[in-house]
Amino acid sequence: MITIDSEKLFDIPQREMLLDQSFGPSRGLKTCERLREGRLPSRGLAFVARGNDQVLGTIRLWDVAVGTRPLLMLGPLAVSPACRGIGLGSDLMVHALAQARRLGHRAIFLVGDAPYYNRFGFHEKAAEGLDLPGPFARERLLALEIEPGALSGVSGMVRPTGPVPLRPENGEAARGFRAVA
Ligand SMILES: CC(C)(COP(=O)(O)OP(=O)(O)OC[C@H]1O[C@@H](n2cnc3c(N)ncnc32)[C@H](O)[C@@H]1OP(=O)(O)O)[C@@H](O)C(=O)NCCC(=O)NCCS
Repeated sequence: MITIDSEKLFDIPQREMLLDQSFGPSRGLKTCERLREGRLPSRGLAFVARGNDQVLGTIRLWDVAVGTRPLLMLGPLAVSPACRGIGLGSDLMVHALAQARRLGHRAIFLVGDAPYYNRFGFHEKAAEGLDLPGPFARERLLALEIEPGALSGVSGMVRPTGPVPLRPENGEAARGFRAVA
C-alpha cells in the first residue's frame, strides 16, 4: 500500500536519491534552488509518498514573498520512475494543495511544465507579475491563486522568507551546490 505522509528526517536520504534520479546531478543549479538554499520547507508542507518503507514520491512547498506579500513556492515534485503514471504525482499535488489551503496560504507559484500543472489550476497568467533571481523560461513560471485575486497587483522579485535551520547543514542544498543558473 502507498500512503502520503508528512516528510520525516529519516526520509531525507531516500528523497535525495529520488531527486538525483529524477533531475540529475545539476539539479542544484536551478534558479528555484536560490529560493530554497539554506532554508527549511514551509511548516507542515513537506510530504512523501511511502510504500514498503521506500520513498516513492516527494513534494515540498516553501515560504517566499514579493515585497510584503507572502506566497508559497512549490517544488520539487518527483515520483520514482517505477511508479509513474499511476496517479501518485497527482495525489501528492492534491494533498499538498489541500494542506496549503487549510493552513491559510493564499497563492502558490512553481516553475514547471504547464501541460502537467494546468490540471491543478496553475497558469502562466497568474504568475505574470513575478520575477525570479536567475534565469527561467517565462512560459514555465506558473501560479495558482488559492484565494481569487491573491496575486493581482503583485509585481517584483520573489525572495525567500522561510525558516533558517538552527544547524545550517540541515538546510536545503547544503551539499556544496552553488546555485548559479
Ligand atoms: C512529473 C511527475 C511528478 C508526474 O508524476 P506521476 O505520478 O507520473 O503523475 P500522474 O500519474 O499523477 O500523472 C500522469 C499524467 O501526467 C502526464 N505527465 C507527466 N509528466 C508530464 C509532463 N512533464 N508534462 C506533461 N504531462 C506530464 C503523463 O503523461 C500522464 O498523463 P495521462 O494522465 O494523460 O496519462 C513524474 O513524471 C516525475 O517525477 N518526473 C520527473 C521529475 C519532474 O519532472 N518533476 C516535475 C518538475 S516540472
